[in-house]
Amino acid sequence: MITRNDPCWCGSGQKWKKCHYPKMPVGASLAKQYLLDYGIVLKTPEQIDKIKAACQITAQILDRLCKAATKGVTTLELDELSRELHKKAGATPAPFGYGSPPYPKTICTSLNEVICHGIPDNRPLQEGDIVNIDASAIVDGFFGDCSRMVTIGEISEEKRRVVEVSLHSLNLAIQICKPGSEVWQIGKAIEDYARSQNCSVVNQFVGHGVGIAFHEPPEIPHHYNNVRIPLVPGMTFTIEPMINAGVREGNLDPKDGWTVRTKDHKPSAQWEHTILITETGHEILTLI
Ligand code: MF3
Ligand code: CO
Repeated sequence: MITRNDPCWCGSGQKWKKCHYPKMPVGASLAKQYLLDYGIVLKTPEQIDKIKAACQITAQILDRLCKAATKGVTTLELDELSRELHKKAGATPAPFGYGSPPYPKTICTSLNEVICHGIPDNRPLQEGDIVNIDASAIVDGFFGDCSRMVTIGEISEEKRRVVEVSLHSLNLAIQICKPGSEVWQIGKAIEDYARSQNCSVVNQFVGHGVGIAFHEPPEIPHHYNNVRIPLVPGMTFTIEPMINAGVREGNLDPKDGWTVRTKDHKPSAQWEHTILITETGHEILTLI
């Protein structure tokens, strides 16, 4: 039997290991390493195509919901519209029945002092409200996840600040996203900017891998952290910074087990995209 150090069978005179020895594909070994070291699934081109399709449908549903979110409309009516839009698109709303207690609606609608996971209800949107609408759709078994803020009429200076700072911090974080950057740099970009604008960054909730499941490794903290995972092509994850006007801490509503409100009842805002790391940088998969 030929061994690694024997002359190659092709007659080149080189050792087999330097010549025709079968190579592990570079991409395949990196994928193995990420799965073993971090539990991260680097997506194949076929998976990426499906995740892109799911993200586009999710973004379109979110866009329709945001356009429908006007004064007098209840968040429950937005949930009803969401059910219709998912159905029409052949998509399943990922939040419905998720977690424990099972999430009862198809989207999250987080108003004013609600940090995240607000449950649609009978309250009509009012002048001066800010609301985050968060949509996550499953299409052909693949997941997209994105959210945006909608403002109703004239809003306070404080609310304007959190809406703008959360959007800009997301965009700064996305600019970090390229091979060679590390996960901690995302949190640094967000928290450096938020602090400079007199805002705080929620650290109880994080972005996450997404695509073949709703929530996959890695966690993507939005606050200062020490996660030294290099970003590599094929990673798909969300960035979804929650930015507060006052303290960073939140309280979970003990009655519904989901709604998280700021401890000081000051406003909070959030924007979210699903990002793909490519060979040269990134693609924002939930951009329409
Ligand atoms: N983007 C949010 C997240 O990743 C969506 C939450 S849906 C819920 O946590 F069902 F978990 F509430
Ligand atoms: Co998410």
